[in-house]
Amino acid sequence: MAGVRARLPDRKSDSPPLANLFRSRIAGTGSYLPLRELTNSDLEKLVDTSDQWIFERTGIKTRHIAAPGENTSDLALKASLLALERANVDPSQLDAILVATVSPDQPMPNTACVLQAKLKARSCMAVDLSAACSGFVYSLAVANQFIQTGAMKNILVVGAEVLHHFVNYQDRETCILFGDAAGAAIVSRSSEKQTSKIYSHHLHADGNIGDLFVLPAGGSALPFSQEVLNQNLQFVRMKGREIFKHAVRTMSQCCEEALVTNGFSADDISWVIPHQANIRIIEAVAKNFGISMDKVVIEIEDLGNTSAATVIVALDRAIADGRIRRGQKLLLTAFGAGITSGSLLLEY
Ligand code: ACO
Repeated sequence: MAGVRARLPDRKSDSPPLANLFRSRIAGTGSYLPLRELTNSDLEKLVDTSDQWIFERTGIKTRHIAAPGENTSDLALKASLLALERANVDPSQLDAILVATVSPDQPMPNTACVLQAKLKARSCMAVDLSAACSGFVYSLAVANQFIQTGAMKNILVVGAEVLHHFVNYQDRETCILFGDAAGAAIVSRSSEKQTSKIYSHHLHADGNIGDLFVLPAGGSALPFSQEVLNQNLQFVRMKGREIFKHAVRTMSQCCEEALVTNGFSADDISWVIPHQANIRIIEAVAKNFGISMDKVVIEIEDLGNTSAATVIVALDRAIADGRIRRGQKLLLTAFGAGITSGSLLLEY
């Protein structure tokens, strides 16, 4: 922790203590996993790997894979309907739809607009946010701004990915990691009696090390061509070991910033909900942060890394099974391609 603290002055905080205009509340959450599973044993048949290696090095046993024709917006829809029902909010009451994703249905229209149509929501703002695995934390922070200023009352925030199309199932370093999933939260204005609030968010990015995790083709820099396909540039590429180190460092720093900004200690936090990329990354962050693993929500074993969906799916599961209760302080933290990172501290 001392090392993390010593590095903090180098980082400019984007979030001084937030002004108390209106307070945000996570009114309801939902999640959805595609039915099809891809187990470690299945992967043993595709690449030179083993269940033992994958589980020991990552904590992953299986991951869910969307069916053919099952798109990111379809997963998002199922998670959103659950969140709306639990929040007792009708789609007609939504003031905005934010979808965090790096695997949109297509570049245009955005997945938020596709979701808006499927939900039969009113003509509210609907936009995708691309910050890879940090996308849900970034989006929650954006939603909080609209609630705090009084501009909006109910915002649907989704983290949804169908990543398997962008994974090379001949590359053992990446194909063992990723899965498909969606999670959704309704962020609403707290009433005067409700104590729920978002205390702070600290969002960062370092584009200088963006080459650690890339999807090279499919954008304007490298449009699809036969040459792209010949070189497998339509699939993700990563420098795993380096990402590991940056993930531990940045998430530890973001958590520390949240505590320092709010004058809390790790003991004040009921649950840390980290991005679920590798159990060993999570264990290292918990150690740096000085928090017991008993207070960390771990949902990686049957999910794998579902990028923008991991934090909200983990949050939803922990709420659904009663681990997370109203009044508890939750610290969300994530790290992803970009390189992006962030933390968000809230009272549930
Ligand atoms: N099965 C068996 N052996 C493997 C596998 C595999 N699937 N993958 C790599 N190996 C081998 C390597 O070739 C290497 O062999 P060598 O020593 O003979 O060279 C050995 O295992 C160790 O390789 P490392 O890369 O050092 O393994 P490490 O412990 O770092 O684990 C991993 C690799 C799991 C990729 C880890 O580095 C990691 O999780 N990094 C972070 C990845 C990540 O989070 N990516 C996404 C970030 S952005 C986002 O989330 C969208």
